[in-house]
Amino acid sequence: MSPTRLGLPWPASAERGEDGAVRVAGIDLRTLAEQQGTPAYVLDEADFRDRARTLRAAFEAAFGAVDIYYAGKAFLSVAVARWAHEEGLRVDTATGGELAVALRAGVPGADIGLHGNNKSDAELTRALDAGVGRIIVDSLPELDRIAALVRSRGGEPAPVMVRVTTGVHAGGHEYISTAHEDQKFGLSIAGGAALDALLRAVELPELRLLGIHSHIGSQILDPEGFTVAARAVLALRAELAARTGLLVPEVDLGGGFGIAYLPGEVPLDPERMAKDIAAAVSDACADLGTPAPRLSFEPGRTIVGPTTLTLYRVGTVKPVRLDDGRVRTYVSVDGGMSDNIRPALYGADYTAALVNRTGTAETVLARVVGKHCESGDIVVHEVQLPADITAGDLLAVAATGAYGRSMASNYNHVPRPPVLAVRDGSARVLIRRETEDDLLGLDLG
Ligand code: LLP
Repeated sequence: MSPTRLGLPWPASAERGEDGAVRVAGIDLRTLAEQQGTPAYVLDEADFRDRARTLRAAFEAAFGAVDIYYAGKAFLSVAVARWAHEEGLRVDTATGGELAVALRAGVPGADIGLHGNNKSDAELTRALDAGVGRIIVDSLPELDRIAALVRSRGGEPAPVMVRVTTGVHAGGHEYISTAHEDQKFGLSIAGGAALDALLRAVELPELRLLGIHSHIGSQILDPEGFTVAARAVLALRAELAARTGLLVPEVDLGGGFGIAYLPGEVPLDPERMAKDIAAAVSDACADLGTPAPRLSFEPGRTIVGPTTLTLYRVGTVKPVRLDDGRVRTYVSVDGGMSDNIRPALYGADYTAALVNRTGTAETVLARVVGKHCESGDIVVHEVQLPADITAGDLLAVAATGAYGRSMASNYNHVPRPPVLAVRDGSARVLIRRETEDDLLGLDLG
C-alpha cells in the first residue's frame, strides 16, 4: 500500500504513509512535533508558491496584464512576503505593521499597496517614504490629509485609489462582508460619497488618482458578486470620465475568493472566476463605450489558507452525554481559540484528523476544544474521529493558514505557536514559538 494523499482541504503534499502517520512535504508530523513541539502551524511552501503562481497564471490568461496583490492580513511573515513577490505577486498591506514586514522582506515600495479605514499620519508618512505603489483611500478627509502631507514634504504626487462600496454583499459571515452600506469601509456609490471623493481626488494636485477599489467580502464561493460589483465600479469610472475628462486607468476588485474548509467542499476555481470577471468587465466596458482598465485583485485566503495545518497534541478526552442521548467526545488539544479564533468569532467549521497513526476503524462523534477558560473555546465543532483517540495522540486541523496565526492572541497568557515552513523533506521556522519570557518581557511589574 503506497501513501495516500489526503486531498483538500489539506495542504497539497499531505499524505498518510503505510505506517498510518501523516507527512507534509515528506516530513513526518510525529518528528516535527518532537523537534518543534506543539501546537504549531505547518505551512507547505510549495503549495503556497503553486497557489500564487496558478492564480496569477489564470488571471493573466483571462485579462492579459493584471496585478495580483497578496493580502498580507491573511498571513504575513518576511519569508511569505518574499515568496509572494518571487512568484510575481505584489503585497497588499492594511497597517503600518504589515507594511513594515513587506519592506523588511525587500518588497519594493512600488509593489506594495496600503489600505486602512483609519490610517495614522505615521502610517501615511511611512507609506510615502517607502514610495508605495498605491494608497487606497477610505474617506474624504483622508484625501486632504494625504495631500497636506505631500505638500509639506514636497515630492511627487501620491498615487491613490478610492475605495467604494457597490452595495454587493457577499461572503460567509456578516462580519466578513465589507461592501454593504452600513459598515465602516469605503465610500458609497449609491449615496454619492464615492463620486464626491473621486472628484476631490481629481482636484488635488498632490494626488495622482490611479483608480477605483472595491472589496465585496471574504470566503465567497460564487463569482456573481464580483461581476455585479465590477459593473457598478466601471459605470462610476465612466461617470467620473464624463464629469472630468479623466478616465482612471485602474480598477481593483479586491480579494475574497473562497476555499474548502471541509472534505467535499468545492473552492472557487481561479480560472472560472477570472474568465467570468473578464467577460463581465469587457461587456460592461463595451456598453459604456470606455476602454477596459488595468485590473488588480487582492486575494489572501485562497493563496495561504489551504497550505497550512495546525498540529496539536491531544490531552484530556472526555465523553459527554447529550440531551438526545448521543455521546459527544470532547477532545482537548494544547491550543485553542488563541491560535484559531475563527470558530468562536464566525462559527467557522474545520475538519481534523489523527495524524500520528490511523486509529481504529470505528469512529465517534467528537468536538475538538482548546485549553482556554471559556466554553466557546471550540476548534472543530463536529468531526468523526477514531474511537481510540487518546492523550498523547497528534491531531491536525486543516486549512488554518488564513486568519489563523494572523488573528492569534495571548488569551490566558498562552504563547502563540510557531509557523514552520516545510519543503522537500525539511522544516524551517518562519516565526518562532512565543515564550513565557516574551510575554513577561512586556509586563513591567
Ligand atoms: N482586500 C481587502 C480590502 C480586504 O479587506 C480583504 C480582507 C482582502 C483583500 C483579502 O480577502 P481574502 O482574499 O483573504 O478573503 N478575518 C476574516 C476575514 C476578514 C477579511 C478582511 N478583509 C476571516 O477570518 O474570515
